[in-house]
Amino acid sequence: MKKGLIQATDWYERLVHWTLALSCLFLCLTGLAMMFHSLNSIANLMGGLTVTKYLHNFTGLLFGLALLLAIKMWWHEAGVFSMPEDLEWIKVAGGYLWHVDAVPEVGKYNPGQKMFFLAVAIFGLVMVITGLIMWFPLMFPSWFVRWLFTFHALGFVVISAFFFVHLYLGTIGSPGSAPAMFTGWVTRAWLKKQHPKWLKEMEEEGTLVVSGEEKKAH
Ligand code: HEM
Repeated sequence: MKKGLIQATDWYERLVHWTLALSCLFLCLTGLAMMFHSLNSIANLMGGLTVTKYLHNFTGLLFGLALLLAIKMWWHEAGVFSMPEDLEWIKVAGGYLWHVDAVPEVGKYNPGQKMFFLAVAIFGLVMVITGLIMWFPLMFPSWFVRWLFTFHALGFVVISAFFFVHLYLGTIGSPGSAPAMFTGWVTRAWLKKQHPKWLKEMEEEGTLVVSGEEKKAH
């Protein structure tokens, strides 16, 4: 491995992220395949609508597990806004939409990432709870289950809207980000640009792990 790279994520964080991400994408695909007649051909590729329904339901359980682990893991860093710096960042949209001379420094995750995390956490739970009830529709009044279909679809719209922004900013929109979730190792320049406060904190606390260096840098 190249020397001087900094470890941004460990194997556990990446395992939880990719279990959550891939199960979420598979649920979107199978959900769409069941919902729209025009997309039934996707269900046919998976062995028909009944098989797709089972795959969707059981993947939902995996998504639910990954979601609980993700909430436990990221809650403190991505689930709580810290004022006033997060508000200052929001006022200039993090420098993403217009030119800003100095983007306010925020903690490990910026407010945009926190909003994505919260959308996934809140609407992900909505998807899991509504999905579980819809799995056993005869146990509940039919008017209630019908409403849940609406909320399930709403959760899909919210998560997928945020997902496209996340996908763009996690790859081409912010070069150097993707390795954080693929290999776990990022450049110091990327950390300095994307997470300057986090870099400073790791340097001060002596928790920085640098490739090619035996000890943690202090
Ligand atoms: C499939 C394409 C995806 C790619 C390339 C990707 C990439 C990334 C990257 C690079 C990070 C770290 C960002 C940083 O530290 O600045 C990250 C964080 C994160 N990802 Fe993904 N991701 C993908 C899909 C998903 C999906 C589908 C979900 C949720 C259902 C998700 C949820 C998260 C969460 C909650 C974080 C923590 C920080 C945040 O809120 O941005 N990701 N992802």
